Amino acid sequence: MLKINFFPLLFVKRTIYHAIKSINESPTLYSIPSARISSGQMQAWIIYYYGDNQQFTLSDSVQVPIILSPKDVLIKVLSSSINPIDIRRREGYGGRLIDTYQSMKNILQLGGNQLNKLQFPLILGRDFCGEIIRKGPKVTKFNIGDKVYGALNVTRQGSFAQYCSAGEDEICLKPNNISDEEASALPLVSLTSWCAIRKFSGFNEENSFGKRALLIGASGGVGHIATQLLKNLGMEITALCRSDSFDYIRQIGAEDAVNYRQKDWFVELSRKPKYDFIFDTVGPRYYTFEFMSSLLNRGGTFVTIVTPIFRNVDKYGLISGLSRTAYQATKQTLTGWSNGINYRWAYYSADGNVLNEIKKLVEQNKLKIKIDSNKFSFENIPDAISYVENGHAKGKVVIQYSSFR
Ligand SMILES: NC(=O)c1ccc[n+]([C@@H]2O[C@H](COP(=O)([O-])OP(=O)(O)OC[C@H]3O[C@@H](n4cnc5c(N)ncnc54)[C@H](OP(=O)(O)O)[C@@H]3O)[C@@H](O)[C@H]2O)c1
Repeated sequence: MLKINFFPLLFVKRTIYHAIKSINESPTLYSIPSARISSGQMQAWIIYYYGDNQQFTLSDSVQVPIILSPKDVLIKVLSSSINPIDIRRREGYGGRLIDTYQSMKNILQLGGNQLNKLQFPLILGRDFCGEIIRKGPKVTKFNIGDKVYGALNVTRQGSFAQYCSAGEDEICLKPNNISDEEASALPLVSLTSWCAIRKFSGFNEENSFGKRALLIGASGGVGHIATQLLKNLGMEITALCRSDSFDYIRQIGAEDAVNYRQKDWFVELSRKPKYDFIFDTVGPRYYTFEFMSSLLNRGGTFVTIVTPIFRNVDKYGLISGLSRTAYQATKQTLTGWSNGINYRWAYYSADGNVLNEIKKLVEQNKLKIKIDSNKFSFENIPDAISYVENGHAKGKVVIQYSSFR
């Protein structure tokens, strides 16, 4: 069945919904004094301005996160990993929308108090594996000392620090058969893949077996996890990636592979039987949606995780940026609709239940994260970021926080 993409409207609706929900859940900051835990200072990589890698400063006098919600925990970070979002955020990507969202939430939740605004200096880093060292009074799922993993929502300060805070519903116990480093590489790419395939595209155990899927960017961070998730659902996968990744991508479940670096990759794809699902992790720089739609069966789904919402708001401001985004979403949806195709934008959100599903798959050896052989220490985070930025990574790049153990 065809569905219209109401993502921009949903985003506004969800913002208001979550703000109102949080008022109901946390009476006020001041009624939970025991949750306002502060214990001095920590080391963190911070930026004072958006820009290049030169913006990073290692500070040893950053305040340890304050637990503002009774359902939040304070985590001692043991390991983290690098994602493209860390590089984009360093450059300013999403700044306007995240700030607006945060301000709205603060006004509704804290009566205009700006305590929770994501102000400079910013701490980047989304992924983490760590140990819970404090918890708010309403945390019921975890205990002090539990080892957990997760990807912080973009509205929180990040994990390139000795400590970070997260909601109990946003995290999960780490899989027990992998290292802290491997666990810290999993969350963001797994949440994104899972959300794109299951939540936004509606595929599951009941409706996927034998369906044909095309994965654009199959050997990347999100792509290699998505390949395995689709394989677990019984789909027949074609991977679009470099030829030097063919062996690896076949090993993790793809039946077929096409090299996007060869001149007429699109001719090769056009000759193949049509697909039921296209999962795009690369974005529309190298292809048109019209071309990709032509590869889909009627009733098929195209989902992309490279969406224009943050970029539009950064460039055109809130009202104009959101209007353009709504226009683009509507246009693509209607174009898809007229061709019998479901068009979707997908994005990750921190979700402990999804992380629990990922944990089960990892523990059953049905999902494996690929780690780059080059490991970096906390002190070298900017080097790790430029290593990824310069295209050297062959798998997820992890950061070891051994100096804090
Ligand atoms: N919406 C969300 O919530 C969300 C969440 C996570 C990520 N993202 C976005 O999704 C994108 C992918 O993230 P990632 O972590 O998977 O990044 P990544 O690890 O850098 O992977 C990107 C992959 O795309 C491949 N690629 C580049 N150009 C291609 C082309 N023309 N055709 C096919 N493949 C191509 C790259 O292959 P080579 O290295 O061989 O060139 C690489 O394997 C990023 O833009 C990121 O910002 C969005």
